[in-house]
Amino acid sequence: MANVEKTEFQTPPQGTSQRDVDAVVSPGLVAGEQDIETSLRPRSLKEFIGQPKVRDQLDLVLTGAKNRGLTPDHVLLSGPPGLGKTTLAMIIAHELGTSLRMTSGPALERAGDLAAMLSNLMEGDVLFIDEIHRMARPAEEMLYMAMEDFRIDVIVGKGPGATSIPLELAPFTLVGATTRSGMLTGPLRDRFGFTAQMEFYNTEDLTQVVARAAHIMGVEIAYDAAVEIASRSRGTPRIANRLLRRVRDYAEVHGDGRIDLGAAQHALVVFDVDEQGLDRLDRAVLSALIKGHGGGPVGVTTLAVAIGEEPATVEEVCEPYLVRAGMIARTGRGRVATAAAWHHLGLTPPEGTLGLH
Ligand SMILES: Nc1ncnc2c1ncn2[C@@H]1O[C@H](COP(=O)(O)OP(=O)(O)O)[C@@H](O)[C@H]1O
Ligand SMILES: [Mg+2]
Repeated sequence: MANVEKTEFQTPPQGTSQRDVDAVVSPGLVAGEQDIETSLRPRSLKEFIGQPKVRDQLDLVLTGAKNRGLTPDHVLLSGPPGLGKTTLAMIIAHELGTSLRMTSGPALERAGDLAAMLSNLMEGDVLFIDEIHRMARPAEEMLYMAMEDFRIDVIVGKGPGATSIPLELAPFTLVGATTRSGMLTGPLRDRFGFTAQMEFYNTEDLTQVVARAAHIMGVEIAYDAAVEIASRSRGTPRIANRLLRRVRDYAEVHGDGRIDLGAAQHALVVFDVDEQGLDRLDRAVLSALIKGHGGGPVGVTTLAVAIGEEPATVEEVCEPYLVRAGMIARTGRGRVATAAAWHHLGLTPPEGTLGLH
């Protein structure tokens, strides 16, 4: 039994998972580089750069609970991929001095999958459910009671002979992460005592992320080069770290390994990252929207088909940043390109385009 559960914690999520989303966000990520990514994760709240609001609020939640000697309220972390949700879940367990159990929504297909995880928790453990919006319904319903009362009903047997056995759980803290908080059901959302909305990072904070990562990797980098990488990272630490690795490759091949502004700029051209930090996928979306559909409005599924991607990828990976960059707007009838998007592709926006003065 213990064995079965052990493998369960370590089984990567099935189906289209965060890994796939990560792969899209970090197309350059290969096996050995995942270790680097792991080594770059900040381990305490103090080390966690940026997100001052989330950090302060979380600090209060954790310190308050520690002072009272109780497990903290359940925490929901919401925001686009690569902003530090998994990192924060690990930090929460670390700050509490407890262990972290990890699983993901798609891995919890049956209520039994969740029951096995829950019944194995020790008092004070942190249970991290990534992509919690993709959990199957029966598992979600079991989770309601677990979150509220620290107990579940386990159904034993099938058909008319089935019986329900109540099971007490050790008090635990659930940390849920989602790229789509809008897809969470009301009852689930209501059971979190604290929701952290992760925002895109500003260039200053990302510069710190790059400098910190370079230091850990033992790479020398000029300040203006760090700023350059930071400003082209779509507000996302995971992308900043990935671009840093690519720029390092470039600096090693074309120079002595030290990263200066010139190396950073050249490498970013080689890897197809433009001045605004948009990558090929972002530009494909803009191009499909503008050249294929006159600037919209277009439904997200149509856009996704046009560029050969899953609608979820367009919605969770590309759109949040394009919206924040003021290039597309979500309207009731679909996605619309703004004047900034037309200009970005070197085109003149027609009369009546959003953002055209
Ligand atoms: N605040 C931060 N400070 C420094 N590095 C960060 C921060 N947030 C994220 N990172 C880096 O970005 C990478 C991706 O973060 P992760 O927690 O996996 O994002 P998410 O789970 O939201 O997709 C991590 O490997 C970590 O090195
Ligand atoms: Mg994650």
